[in-house]
Amino acid sequence: MEQEDGTIPAGEYVITARSLDEYRAMFGLEDGQVRGRILDCPGGGSSFAAEAGVLGAEVIAVDPVYAMGGERLRREVLGAIENTGWATAHPERFVWDFYGDIAGHQAIRERAAARFLADLDSNPRRYRAGLLPELDFPDAHFDLVLSSHLLFTYADRLDYDFHLAALRELLRVSAGQVRVFPLVDYLGGSCEDLIDALSLDLAADGVRAERVPVEFEFQHGATSMLRLRRG
Ligand SMILES: C[S@@+](CC[C@H](N)C(=O)[O-])C[C@H]1O[C@@H](n2cnc3c(N)ncnc32)[C@H](O)[C@@H]1O
Repeated sequence: MEQEDGTIPAGEYVITARSLDEYRAMFGLEDGQVRGRILDCPGGGSSFAAEAGVLGAEVIAVDPVYAMGGERLRREVLGAIENTGWATAHPERFVWDFYGDIAGHQAIRERAAARFLADLDSNPRRYRAGLLPELDFPDAHFDLVLSSHLLFTYADRLDYDFHLAALRELLRVSAGQVRVFPLVDYLGGSCEDLIDALSLDLAADGVRAERVPVEFEFQHGATSMLRLRRG
C-alpha cells in the first residue's frame, strides 16, 4: 500500500522479471502489435522494454522501484529471483507447459533480469519511476498499454477504488487498447466479481471491457486477459 511520501514499502510487491516471450503469450500479442509507443506498467524487472526496443517499439516502463537507483534496484531484482521457495513449495499450483519445469522458469527469469539490468544502464530513459493511479504522461500518449501482475494479482491489498482509478488512468494515457493479465489473484483466487463490477463502471465511461482467451496458463485457470477499449 502507498505510504504518505508516495512510495511503497520495499518487499510488499515482488519485483518479477518476465521476458518478451512471456508478454507476447500473456497478452496475446502478435508480431505486428509490438510496435509504436507502448507503456509497460508496472515494468518491474521485465526485459519487455529492452527486447521490444530491439524490434523497433518505443517502450516506456513505469514502476515505483525505479526510484531506488541502479545498485539497490540491481540487488532487489536479483534477490527476488533467488527466492524460488514459492515454486518448490507449491509446484502443483502452477501449469508448467510454457516453462518446462522450475529450472526452465528460473532460467527465463535470470535471462530477463540480466537483460533488464543491462538495458537500465544503457537506456535509462526507458525506465521511469511512477506510481499508479497517477501517471505523468499526456492523454492518448501510447498506442498500447500493458499491465501485468499488479492489478487483480494483489487484490488482497489494492481495493476496488484503486483498481478503478488505475484502469481509468491507463485508459487515459492510451490511444488504443489497455491489456491486463492475469485475471486472478496471486493465490489463484477468482477476481470475477471485481472484474464484473469494474466493467460496469467503465461501461458508464464508454469503455468496452472484454475477457480475451490467451494461449498461456501458469496459474491454473488464468487463461484470459482483460482488453479495454473506448467505444
Ligand atoms: C509482480 S511485479 C510485475 C512486473 C512485471 N510486469 C512482470 O510481469 O514481471 C509487480 C510490480 O508492481 C509494482 N508496483 C507496486 N505498486 C505499484 C503502483 N501503485 N503503480 C505501479 N507499479 C506498482 C512493484 O514495484 C512491482 O515491481
